[in-house]
Amino acid sequence: MKELTHLALIMDGNGRWAEKRGLTRSAGHLEGGKAAIKVIKGCLSHSIPYLTLYCFSKENWKRPKEEVDYLMGLFSSRIRAELPRARKEGIRILHLGSRDGLSDDVLSAIDEAIEATAECSKLTLQLAINYSGTDEIDRAVQRAIKAGVKVFDEKTLSLYLDNPEVPSPDFIARSSGEKRLSGFLLYQSNYAELGFYDRLWPDWDESMIETIVNDFNSRNRRFGGI
Ligand code: IPE
Ligand code: IPE
Ligand code: MG
Repeated sequence: MKELTHLALIMDGNGRWAEKRGLTRSAGHLEGGKAAIKVIKGCLSHSIPYLTLYCFSKENWKRPKEEVDYLMGLFSSRIRAELPRARKEGIRILHLGSRDGLSDDVLSAIDEAIEATAECSKLTLQLAINYSGTDEIDRAVQRAIKAGVKVFDEKTLSLYLDNPEVPSPDFIARSSGEKRLSGFLLYQSNYAELGFYDRLWPDWDESMIETIVNDFNSRNRRFGGI
């Protein structure tokens, strides 16, 4: 059995799930939030120590204001509502992405969660909200320059990423059948295994973690060796 230390998920297909049922896109996002809770449970029961969820990309600001507002409200309300359970289950919450452009409501929900769960150690959950991989690398370079770094070697940049203590993902999975990364973990995806699953995000549950763990175990990771 290989060690799946960090699983990163691109939660895609909420809109299509809703359209298929004649529902609003918001209804799809609401259901997607419920799926995220089930998936987190699956990670806990498989003792996966790091999980990253791609919740909102920098490109997602292009969507209609009504949808963006709904999503932002969902993030702050779900984070606040789930906080007691996160603490109880030992889930440490981190934010991945830019703070610029996020509302005070979302930022305060994120900050409260980070502070309240700082001592939790069972699962580290990175919420990628307002994230793009190129933006994270840009900000890492800015931070490094500000810190006086003059010489960059292979490791330098990784020290200035948003959460440098989080190891790179071993497996990146995407729901809804799309086969692209959409800017997710551009730097950290270096040697990640990739998995693309047709199931739309709101239909995901604990059983998908079982599937992913089995898929991961069937991969032959060579890292350039033989
Ligand atoms: C993923 O579902 C949620 C976000 C990107 C915020 P989508 O909203 O992209 O769903 P589709 O791709 O339109 O079905
Ligand atoms: C990627 O999904 C971003 C998130 C899941 C948050 P999108 O639906 O925004 O990606 P594209 O536009 O299909 O690449
Ligand atoms: Mg999509």
